[in-house]
Order: sequence, then C-alpha cells, then structure tokens
Amino acid sequence: MDRVEKATLVLFGGTGDLAARKLIPALFSLWKHRQIVDCLIVAVGRRVESTEQFREMLTQRVSVAKKDLPTWNEFARCIEFHRGDIQTRADFESLRDHLNEMENARQLPGHRLFYYAVTPSLFGPITQQLSEVGLLRRGLEPAQPWQRIIVEKPFGHDAESAATLDESLHVYASERQIYRIDHYLGKETVQNLLAFRFANGLFEPLWNNNYIEHVQISVAEAVGVEGRAEYYEKAGALRDMMQNHMMQLLAVTAMEPPIGLDADAIRDEKVKILRSIRLPANPAEVDILTVRGQYGPGEVDGQGVIGYRDEPDVAAESTTPTYVAARLFLDTWRWAGVPFLMRHGKRLAKRGTEVAIKFRTPALALFRGTQVFGNCTNLLVIRIQPNEGISLHFGAKRPGAGMRISTVQMDFEYQKSFDKEIPEAYERLLLDALLGDPTLFTRSDEVAATWRWADVVIDAWNVLPPPTFPNYSAGSWGPSAAEALFPAGDQVSAGSCPLGWRRW
Ligand SMILES: NC(=O)c1ccc[n+]([C@@H]2O[C@H](COP(=O)([O-])OP(=O)(O)OC[C@H]3O[C@@H](n4cnc5c(N)ncnc54)[C@H](OP(=O)(O)O)[C@@H]3O)[C@@H](O)[C@H]2O)c1
Repeated sequence: MDRVEKATLVLFGGTGDLAARKLIPALFSLWKHRQIVDCLIVAVGRRVESTEQFREMLTQRVSVAKKDLPTWNEFARCIEFHRGDIQTRADFESLRDHLNEMENARQLPGHRLFYYAVTPSLFGPITQQLSEVGLLRRGLEPAQPWQRIIVEKPFGHDAESAATLDESLHVYASERQIYRIDHYLGKETVQNLLAFRFANGLFEPLWNNNYIEHVQISVAEAVGVEGRAEYYEKAGALRDMMQNHMMQLLAVTAMEPPIGLDADAIRDEKVKILRSIRLPANPAEVDILTVRGQYGPGEVDGQGVIGYRDEPDVAAESTTPTYVAARLFLDTWRWAGVPFLMRHGKRLAKRGTEVAIKFRTPALALFRGTQVFGNCTNLLVIRIQPNEGISLHFGAKRPGAGMRISTVQMDFEYQKSFDKEIPEAYERLLLDALLGDPTLFTRSDEVAATWRWADVVIDAWNVLPPPTFPNYSAGSWGPSAAEALFPAGDQVSAGSCPLGWRRW
C-alpha cells in the first residue's frame, strides 16, 4: 500500500474555503486509511489566533468531522496553526522557527510539502520568502529532506502570464519540485480512461479516424456562479474550465500510447496532443468554431433561479461567458478530420461530465429500410461524474417478426463492479505529491500548450462583436447556436438516426 510517513504539509490558505471543503477532508480520509502516518499539517493564515481555535473552526466547517467526532479529534492532533501574513518577512522567519520546533518535538525529518491554496498573485511571493528564509532549496538532493510545492489553479490567465508565473517559481524551485494541480486528473474515472484504452485490446484498434466520426467532451454544471463572481467575472467559462480540466480530458482521450507509465512518458504524450490542436486562422474562423453563452433567469430542478447578471458582484452589463462550446481539430495522423466537440456551461439542465465517442456507421447501410427505435448510433460514453462508469450503445434486433432495430446499452458502473468508495480526487493528488509522483500533475510545457488555443480564441472574442447576452435560459442545454458546431454530415447518420449534442 502506498503510504507516507513522517512528512510535513504546510498549507497556505489553511483557513480558506478550499481547505475546509476539499483539502482537510482528503487528509482526514488518508489518515483514517493509514495512508499518511505520523505526519504534521501546519495551516497558515491570519484570521485565527491559535491552534485550538483553528481546530475548533475546522470541526464546525468540515462536514465529515461531525460524523465521526472521536476519530476526527484524534486526527486533529496532527494539525497545528501558524498565524502569519504571506506579505511579511518576519512571519516567514517565525514560520521557519515554529516548523523546526514542531518537527523536532514530533521527531520528523523535515520532508516538507508546501500547498499554495491562495490567490495566484501570492504564489511568487510565497516561493521567494520560503527560499530566502531557508525553507525551500532549489533542486532535490537524495541525501537531504525533500521540499515540494503544490500550486492551485488558475495557473495564469493567458500564455504570457503563465510563463511569467513559471519563471518566478523556477528561480527558487526546479520543475521536479513543482506540482501544478488539476483536480480532474485525480479523478478515478479520468485515470480509468488510460486503463480502458491501453490495458485492453478491444477498443484501441478502433481509436482513430477510420472508425471514429466525432468525439464530444461535455462538462455540464447545474449550479451558477456560487458566490465566486469576483473571480468568475475575470475568468469566464473558457478560462475556468476549458483551458484546464477539459483540455486534460481531451489529452487523455486522444493521446498516443506512452512508452511507459512513468510521469514524463505520460506527460510527453499529453503535451504532443495539446500542441496538435489546430489554431483558428483568424477571428472569423473563431466565430464559426466557437459559441459563447451567458445564462438568463430560468428553472433548475423545479426551482426558479436568477440570471447571471443578477448574481451578487456581477456587472449589470457583464459580457462574461458562462457557456462555451467549440469544434476542435487535432492535426495528427490518428485524428485527421475528426471533430472534437467540447462544451461547458453553468446552469445547464443537469450536472454531468462525460466523453462520448461516436463511431462511424457501417460501410453499407444494409438496414436502411428498417424501422429503427432510438438513436441507433454506436456510441461509447465514458461518464466521468456522477454515476461513474462506461456504457456502449448499439443497435439490436427487436424480438418478433420482421427486422426492427432498437438501441440497447451495455453498462459498467463503478459502484456495482467495485465494492469500494471512489476516493476524492484531492486524496489521490495529495498522496501522490507527498510520495513524489508527479504523473497526475500538469507540467510547465503542458500548461503553455493549453493556453495556445485559449489565447487565440479569447483574443478573437475581444475583437468580434459581443453576442447578445443572456442567450440561454438557466435549466436549458445552452444556446441553440451551439448545435451549428456539428458538421452537417453528423446530423443524418445510419439512415434515420441523427445525433446532436448528447443529452443525459
Ligand atoms: N474554493 C474552491 O473550490 C477552489 C477550487 C479550485 C481552486 N481554488 C483556488 O484555490 C485558491 C484558494 O481558494 P479559496 O476558495 O480557498 O479562497 P478563500 O476562501 O478566499 O481563502 C483564501 C485563503 O488565503 C489566505 N490568505 C490570503 N491572503 C493572505 C495573506 N496575506 N497572508 C496569509 N494568508 C492569506 C486566507 O487566510 P486568512 O484570511 O486567514 O488570512 C485564506 O485562507 C485560489 O487560488 C482558488 O482559485 C479554489
């Protein structure tokens, strides 16, 4: 079993929302399963005075704490608090002394993981201060305690700012010490895409432009902006979701088989795919290949909800997109001519993330005159969340006289096949970072490659006339203009089986 012993996790932003909702619950789970043993967690922040007060605050805010209070209280003994301001040198000096003191008392050797769960403008200053007070040494020497950093998203707001951020980190830490988190890569279902493709002989021979007509990658959210308008107004749907999480889904779906399972072998193949994304030649092409949307008022799950522009902290005339759809092409031998249809939106009809592969129809439409029930397309649907699993849709003869064909489905569901809860993405990622395995973290060149396409699109949107927002109702499937992203040939396939965006 992978297990981490005697390490220290220093959590900048320990008093924040991400820590309470994701990081501390993930650490609690790892501790309960004895995957972290004899470890120290030191949270840093300003709004709390003492360790006792911090532990009490966590007990109130962390939902899993109250479910098993005695175990939680035992775990809470691993947590300490250091009051400090990231902008103040003296506070880093006192953090260094406090860390040494706590580690000595617990007989820890000083292996340290620094987690930056704070606004990105603080990433550079933290790294510099850590280095200058002697807490971070550039490079990894096997004989000495290791030091690593985890950086939260967003990693820049365009290629240039991502490169500047990288430079500011690389002065004090080598690339092998930097773990850029994209929590989608920590999801079991995303990792299973690799197993599904490369551990089986069944599908990979079909995984190319000879057999695949198009690929749909969808991340639909039913929630709105959830109190994060200040950040979202500047980011929008493309930067928030497509440039990072969806590009990772695209890379794992489309990459070539790696030469091994080590971190660089996998990331080398992912980066090749990301670099192969064809860049639109000009704004007019961007206009044809992408659709922006913003939700107006509507109804989600039977409840009336307000439009984006009415959300707190959103400008009354905001042009921030809450929906984005795009038709991409990968200029590789394997994928030449296969459209990758990507969409993401907030306040859509239902929550769901999936990759749907539509296979080509048979060379001869032998059953053309046959009565067909349902969408009898050959479709492979990989459900990333919720209801995690994979289903294969195909046509089968209905029992009885004559030849009538219905769509049927073969299903794999995680819950039914494995008698085990699916671990949260942050659990896996925190464990891997503590173990020193960067496979599921984004390398610097991958980040640069994802911004190439995003930058071209955002620059074009800035010069194109803005769409009339809002252009979709909350609770719908997004703007109708997105349907036009399907190439005309896709609308009529297998005789009478059209397939637009998959609904689920
Ligand atoms: N929340 C999420 O679901 C989520 C998801 C993905 C990524 N992220 C990213 O994670 C990061 C943190 O997000 P969040 O939602 O947790 O933010 P948040 O709730 O606003 O928390 C911000 C944290 O930063 C600390 N902080 C700010 N300035 C500081 C300073 N000068 N000195 C010391 N501590 C300082 C705050 O501590 P004090 O107030 O105690 O000083 C607080 O712990 C952001 O980069 C965000 O984009 C968040």
